[in-house]
Amino acid sequence: MPGPHRQGPASSAETGARIGIHVATLAPGADMPGFRAAARRLIAANVPPEAIVWQTEALSLFGTESAPNEAPPLALPRPVTDLIPMVVPHRDPERYGLLYALIWRVLHGERALMEVASDPLVHRLHRMRKGIARDLHKMHAFLRFRRVPNEPERYVAWFEPDHHILEAAAPFFVDRFRNLRWSILTPEGSAHWDGALSFGPPGRREDAPEGDGFEAGWRDYYESTFNPARLNLDAMRAEMPRKYWRNMPETAAIPALVRAAGARAQAMIEKAPTMPEKRDPVRAVERMARDEPESLEALNAVIARSEPLVPGATQAVLGEGPLGATIAFVGEQPGDQEDRQGRPFVGPAGQLLSRALAEAGIERSDAYLTNAVKHFKFTLRGKRRIHEKPTAGEVSHYRWWLDRELDFVAPKLVVALGATAVLALTGKPVPITRARGPAEFGRPFGGFITVHPSYLLRLPDEAKEEAYHAFVADLRRVRDLAA
Ligand code: URA
Repeated sequence: MPGPHRQGPASSAETGARIGIHVATLAPGADMPGFRAAARRLIAANVPPEAIVWQTEALSLFGTESAPNEAPPLALPRPVTDLIPMVVPHRDPERYGLLYALIWRVLHGERALMEVASDPLVHRLHRMRKGIARDLHKMHAFLRFRRVPNEPERYVAWFEPDHHILEAAAPFFVDRFRNLRWSILTPEGSAHWDGALSFGPPGRREDAPEGDGFEAGWRDYYESTFNPARLNLDAMRAEMPRKYWRNMPETAAIPALVRAAGARAQAMIEKAPTMPEKRDPVRAVERMARDEPESLEALNAVIARSEPLVPGATQAVLGEGPLGATIAFVGEQPGDQEDRQGRPFVGPAGQLLSRALAEAGIERSDAYLTNAVKHFKFTLRGKRRIHEKPTAGEVSHYRWWLDRELDFVAPKLVVALGATAVLALTGKPVPITRARGPAEFGRPFGGFITVHPSYLLRLPDEAKEEAYHAFVADLRRVRDLAA
């Protein structure tokens, strides 16, 4: 856990002080307060990045001396202050030096440096930020609590994150499991919740209980929802890398289910001749050895290859817009037009959205537009395909794609359009009327909830205009929040 930090020009002969080396010593892990204080002091003393050695206490190579923490705050642009806490937890020992180099350049004439995505420093820091976002997502998705035997209602989970993210990840679990007493143990530290959050020393895997009835429930649930004909190990592995399997009770069922999938799917095909094309589980297992998608393109290729959960859709409709877009809009699912054209928000609701965006001063082409569910679901009425709302189960099925997609796009603000998007982003059904406005999605981006444009289309004429103006007003707030 971060502790007190020390920073100051090295003083002894061997330290390098003669050649003007300054040593900034931070606590191991993600030492945000330490970095902040050190950066302020070094900037105040006009020390350039190349004159600083950043080290953590455990690796102390140079002598250090403590220095008082009195330097004034730095006036940094918002993209820089937002980025810093998202990079500090990275495991790369160069993280502090890179961040300081960014601060130095921004304060020495390159104020808009963060907008230069091609700059090697900015590019590297963005990649680091994405690595952290991905690690947080994995911890949120794959950590499993187990009940401690012979103790009243206490749960413990073991997890090994790639980066120093325990403190950044903990609030998510407080939010989800506020009424339980729990601990998360990692090799670097532990987090404990009993109505108040505290952090402590590292734990060991053996300190977490092995298995329990709760766990059998997970496994049963997983087995009962597993459909052998839909076996898609690329997608499965992209969402749930092998590294996490050990901690997840439901994964105990996977090898047997995969082995049996071919035979079970064959039986289903014989029973139902219209089954989608048979998959080859052996090839799928081989494919599983490959890495999870490393880019939005790779992820989109997985999505595009997937079959709709409910048969009927022509194609998967992928998100659209620039990587690094400041604002991402999440809708419900593609409609009839979107399904035919393979693009999000091109039908009537999409056209209304475009108009409202233009009125609110948001360039549609600068934003990223996507959906919670990637396939159109409908019922046929004569020749017309009538949109059907996705169920909570369908939304959750598609959720990992949305999470990964947003990790890659890394927007500053995500706008949930309507209740399905809110469910996909929070995992909870929340009435829009109560939640409308700025929101917290427990992710490394800001959130905002508003209505879906198709709701406006369904209103009676006399209510439409006022509701439309309120929608545009929401989008103006979104524009200002993201600016
Ligand atoms: N409604 C949505 O939620 N998304 C679309 O792409 C179109 C309509």
